[in-house]
Amino acid sequence: KGDTLFNASTPTIQSCASCHNADGNSSIPANPKLAQQHPEYILKQLQEFKTGKRKNAVMTPMASHLSDQDMRDIAWFVGAKKVKTGFSKDKDTIAMGEKIYRGGIADRQVPACAGCHSPNGAGIPAQYPRLGGQHADYIVTQLTAFRDGGRLNAPQMTGVAAKLNDREIKAVADYIAGL
Ligand code: HEM
Ligand code: HEM
Repeated sequence: KGDTLFNASTPTIQSCASCHNADGNSSIPANPKLAQQHPEYILKQLQEFKTGKRKNAVMTPMASHLSDQDMRDIAWFVGAKKVKTGFSKDKDTIAMGEKIYRGGIADRQVPACAGCHSPNGAGIPAQYPRLGGQHADYIVTQLTAFRDGGRLNAPQMTGVAAKLNDREIKAVADYIAGL
């Protein structure tokens, strides 16, 4: 059932696959890859788009059409796909991005991302999402939204992002894309 729900469009609703691709590896950098993401995390996001705890103009109407069972079927369907990892594009900031990801920024009490998202970016099921291979553009949008209050459904991330400047956000996002 997850397959049909994910891939089929209806006259009123575009398919998930039209934005996130049939194998969950979205090709558009603003749209997150869902492949190999922890199903419990996907389920939580869909529930929170529906209730408005996480706000997004595109995803709120999409999620509002799904029942809790639909969300579960979709989450376990797409989470079982294999993620296609990308690569870091900006040679000048890889070292900075890696340093933040693995060690945080000690003098500003930024914790290491690896502590919650794991050293290889796979996350820790079920609470801590996979980041490895995710589009850098999408990561930048999320970190900026955590920092500016646009995304409020992850209190753990608000404090982390609050201490990062734009350059650091870009660097760590670019590093993550290549994990
Ligand atoms: C985000 C699932 C349809 C565009 C997400 C997320 C999930 C999801 C779970 C959050 C991912 C994360 O936190 O890593 C779905 C499902 C769909 C669907 C199950 C079908 C019912 C669509 C469609 C579009 C779209 C049709 C494009 C028109 C986006 C965008 C985001 C997103 C732009 C990022 C939102 C943000 O910046 O916060 N989607 N999606 N999705 N999706 Fe979808
Ligand atoms: C979510 C990045 C540190 C816990 C996220 C997301 C990003 C991110 C981009 C959203 C993923 C998505 O939408 O698919 C980072 C970076 C970090 C960092 C770059 C280091 C600078 C941490 C730490 C913790 C943590 C130290 C644990 C204390 C979480 C949790 C979520 C999350 C629980 C999921 C929120 C939810 O359920 O909606 N992180 N993170 N992160 N992060 Fe981090």
